[in-house]
Amino acid sequence: MALPKVQKAVFHDLKNNNLSIIYDSPVPAPDFRKRQHLVHVMTTSPCNNELTWPINYPHHMDADRIPIPCNDMAGVVVEAPEDSSFQPGTAVFCRTTAARTGDAREYTIAIESELAKKPDSLGWDEACAMPLSAETAWQCLFDKSGLAVPGSPHVDENKAKRVLITGASGSVGMWVVQLAKVAGVGQIVGLAGANSVGFVKSLGANEVVDYKAINLSTWGESEGGKNKVDLVFDCVGGKALGNCWSCVKEGGVLISVTDVPETFKPKDFVGNVTNFFFIMVSDGKQLEKIAELVEKGLCKPFVDSVWNFEQFQKAFDRVELKSGLKGKVIIKVEE
Ligand SMILES: NC(=O)c1ccc[n+]([C@@H]2O[C@H](COP(=O)([O-])OP(=O)(O)OC[C@H]3O[C@@H](n4cnc5c(N)ncnc54)[C@H](OP(=O)(O)O)[C@@H]3O)[C@@H](O)[C@H]2O)c1
Repeated sequence: MALPKVQKAVFHDLKNNNLSIIYDSPVPAPDFRKRQHLVHVMTTSPCNNELTWPINYPHHMDADRIPIPCNDMAGVVVEAPEDSSFQPGTAVFCRTTAARTGDAREYTIAIESELAKKPDSLGWDEACAMPLSAETAWQCLFDKSGLAVPGSPHVDENKAKRVLITGASGSVGMWVVQLAKVAGVGQIVGLAGANSVGFVKSLGANEVVDYKAINLSTWGESEGGKNKVDLVFDCVGGKALGNCWSCVKEGGVLISVTDVPETFKPKDFVGNVTNFFFIMVSDGKQLEKIAELVEKGLCKPFVDSVWNFEQFQKAFDRVELKSGLKGKVIIKVEE
């Protein structure tokens, strides 16, 4: 089937931060030498805060990036390098690197190392709800914080760990809770709003702290510091991240995927805490490993809502609520 030369896409006007649909965006040609694949997009998904990235960090964006948002997608490969394991017709899902043009368009480019085969048991919406959130959770827990990977010989050591997750009901946090549970972490504590307490417990948390009722800093310092944890995984940033410093044990780890922890360190903090801001790297093989856990019924993606392409603005408005969502917001690109 001949491919169209132009396509519909959501266009992000960086001057006034407006989104609109355009119908004349070029269909890209994959560069096979760079292991690029052309993918027919079925579903895509925005991330909380993503519209600020090309405006605040233009130097992190590729020079030829067209400002089209959404870098999570599920779709079908249309063109591939001859020796790729993702041949035309293969159902795939992935996070495409945010420095490149995004996936809120009919045809997009994905690199082989980003791609994962979509299991038949996952629909287009569920598959698209996974890449960014699940890979971020996996990388922070198992590549960066020293926890043993599920199934590894040292996994029993995770039993002795106590972990706090802020934003535990959010898209990233819900994966952190689930993967920590799968990895056998002994004590999982979630920070979430009162309406999400039951949800976060159902994901595997032993304890949930309501951020609207309890001051996290006071909670961390109370009763001689018995609440303190070995690892804080922060998905909220700002003031909540500042309060996290009081919740880490001496010698513990504080990771944020939202802000640089040192920026919010209380002036009077004394202690030895390894801390850093982390940005995920798209990794298709990792995504396939997580999908295997989903197929075994050990964890699952959550879809908050599904919107038609023309309803893109409603989808973004919902994501920007930053509270009360129950999973990823999905945009159907192909009806
Ligand atoms: N660095 C990276 O590689 C990376 C990757 C993915 C995402 N991110 C970033 O991570 C952040 C979270 O993304 P997400 O997709 O998980 O967001 P999300 O789905 O919108 O979740 C936001 C979470 O924050 C909680 N929350 C809101 N206000 C709070 C407060 N004042 N105190 C404590 N918790 C509060 C919400 O709880 P309730 O719903 O219970 O109110 C919810 O659980 C975003 O800034 C995103 O850009 C970074």
